[in-house]
Amino acid sequence: MPRTLIEPFRIKSIEPIRVTDRSERLRLLEEAHLNVFKLRAEDVLLDWLTDSGTGAMSAEQWAAIMRGDESYAGAPSFFRLQSVVREITGMQHLIPTHQGRAAERILFASLCSAGQIVPNNCHFDTTRANLEYLGVDARDLVIAEGLQPALVHPFKGNIDLDRLEALLKSDGERIPFGMLTVTNNTGGGQPVSMANIRACAKLLHAYGKPLVMDVCRFAENAMFIKLREPGYADKSPLEIAQEMFSLADAATMSAKKDGMVNIGGFIVLRHEQWLERVRQLEILWEGYPTYGGLAGRDLDALAVGLKEGLDEDYLRYRLRTAEYLGEKLDALGIGYVKPTGGHAVYIDVRTVLPHMPIEHYPAWALCNALYTEGGIRGVEVGSVMFGKRLPDGRETYHDMELVRLAFPRRMYTQSHFDYAAEVIGEVKAAAGAIRGVRIVRQPKLLRHFSADFEWV
Ligand code: F0G
Repeated sequence: MPRTLIEPFRIKSIEPIRVTDRSERLRLLEEAHLNVFKLRAEDVLLDWLTDSGTGAMSAEQWAAIMRGDESYAGAPSFFRLQSVVREITGMQHLIPTHQGRAAERILFASLCSAGQIVPNNCHFDTTRANLEYLGVDARDLVIAEGLQPALVHPFKGNIDLDRLEALLKSDGERIPFGMLTVTNNTGGGQPVSMANIRACAKLLHAYGKPLVMDVCRFAENAMFIKLREPGYADKSPLEIAQEMFSLADAATMSAKKDGMVNIGGFIVLRHEQWLERVRQLEILWEGYPTYGGLAGRDLDALAVGLKEGLDEDYLRYRLRTAEYLGEKLDALGIGYVKPTGGHAVYIDVRTVLPHMPIEHYPAWALCNALYTEGGIRGVEVGSVMFGKRLPDGRETYHDMELVRLAFPRRMYTQSHFDYAAEVIGEVKAAAGAIRGVRIVRQPKLLRHFSADFEWV
């Protein structure tokens, strides 16, 4: 058997990448106030800002788009999607939404009230923000291994069951439900094992609490279980996903990830008791329950995408992609969150810029260098994203400086990754020339999206 794992698709429609040179990129970055979020996408060579909604759809999905029915109520597109969602999740009640955070907002507003606590392995930003907006304490209980970038563990997304049990004992009456995010994006795209999902569900149920899963990357999680957890090697990703879902009472989904579509999301419920309240808020905020903020064609593209995202050859290639770039970083002596996750590689910036003072924002500086030297756009996950300016003008800093390179699905080929590794290697070799930045203007909330910077 040849050992090269090929992209399991061929290209039918292309989008040209506009080739730029270093001096042009430096000028564009300076015009964008040294913030890659403010670049125009056409000025980027490899756009690895996010894997959310950025992937390529298949010929079958484009065909499904034409089949989409735009009736306001009861469109066949809804019933096609419902049947696929029922098959994968085993849950009866599908509530479509325009994206994942809308699903969170509706479900949390239906189930939570101020003063409560919701435990999770790690809450994604929007999940946390939607809970905190309601006055709910969003508690992260990932295992200790999940917080050490260099440590290799097969399921770094697992929740710490001892801490979960302690919380259920001490504050049980304040907990409306428990959550698990698969894969754990905030912790590096790391999977949760079936054993951990099962034990978490059992523990919550023993205390009378439902399990709600955040399942944006459920297919990648299922494939990690197949590859790493004893007893699953001969099961299909679909069978594994079905077993994962069988342990949960409800789920929120951003279909922009493993749904393989550019927009969409949903809530799915096993029990009827939450349905009425959820449907009311759905109508208030998203639309009639058979379209929920989406066009009929979006529902059909998702019905096809959910199945394609579970294809074993696709998933093998998908997980291998991140691993392949990880191996190249190993060869260059560059650290990253290990092992590589499903959708992204998180570079540990301190292994490239060990001496840069934290006040010069090393992860932001590396992001800028990757763009200037190679036209690559990643995202800083460090002290700009998580630090704050205090009322007295002082700044707080984050304990890790990472750059996330997240890979749109079915978009880039192996040579793009070879190119990226070459760029990262060149950037590291000339690390002494990388310039730090200081913030010259920043909004109060979510400052990384729109702050302006200047060179130190
Ligand atoms: N949950 C997780 C684990 C996510 O990663 C995201 C989005 C959401 C919920 C929200 O879904 O964007 O459809 O509203 N993550 C994207 C990212 C934005 O870049 O990681 P959404």
